[in-house]
Amino acid sequence: MPYFTIEGRAYHYRDVGRGRPLLLLHGFPLTGASFWPQLDAPPKGTRLIVPDHRGFGQSAPGEGPTTMEAIASDALALLDELKISQLAVGGVSMGGYASMALLRLAPARVTRLVLVDTWCGAEDEAGKARREATAQELEAKGMEPLVAAMMPRLLAPEAPDEVRRRVEAMMRAGNPKAAAAAARGMGLRGDQRELLSRFAGPALVVVGSLDPITPPERARQMAGLIQGSRLLELEGAGHLANLERPEAFNAALGEFLAFG
Ligand code: MLT
Repeated sequence: MPYFTIEGRAYHYRDVGRGRPLLLLHGFPLTGASFWPQLDAPPKGTRLIVPDHRGFGQSAPGEGPTTMEAIASDALALLDELKISQLAVGGVSMGGYASMALLRLAPARVTRLVLVDTWCGAEDEAGKARREATAQELEAKGMEPLVAAMMPRLLAPEAPDEVRRRVEAMMRAGNPKAAAAAARGMGLRGDQRELLSRFAGPALVVVGSLDPITPPERARQMAGLIQGSRLLELEGAGHLANLERPEAFNAALGEFLAFG
């Protein structure tokens, strides 16, 4: 699997399939491997580029809070390295926040958006305080308390055992300092509504009907902001719709990317 070096840091990514490129950005506190049903069967005619964000998976950590702009800048450096000037960009949850940051940093490079179980609003003061408390707990006690707190909220009760097992193992293997940096980075998010309302390309907004973190109502609001967006609500899925309903997700993604 390829690595690329950014400012002396190893940055790991997956590059599978052939055709029009799609960058997929993973959620918190997971890795690019959390797109396994998509990596195993990339949509026809699509090249999937899936990095591990700094400090996650096999990518080395950075300094200071991992802002959504930092995640986006690393991905942009990778696109430069791969000589990809324009592409579809998407992500799940924190990966969606980072996709919007990338759109803000480099609007001319984004042809399509795929926003999955994510939200475009700013973090409020209470949210910022919660992020700081999470970061401090990660630094003091490691990944375990976060795993215990997040597992019941990430997946719907009916999620397959295999998905539950893999997601939990991925979280447990995480680097607590890097997760703390990303928690603080998410706390610094600004409002992206205006940015989305200016986006002129096609967009696919996906949400699990049982997602308690970024519920369907938020997905509907986001889809309403983007002209020409499609909204897909995946019945029975929680916050990780691409893992919980992989066949329906992959089919919708393939259809969306093939259009136009
Ligand atoms: C994620 O799945 O990336 C996180 O739940 C996002 C968040 O905590 O806002």
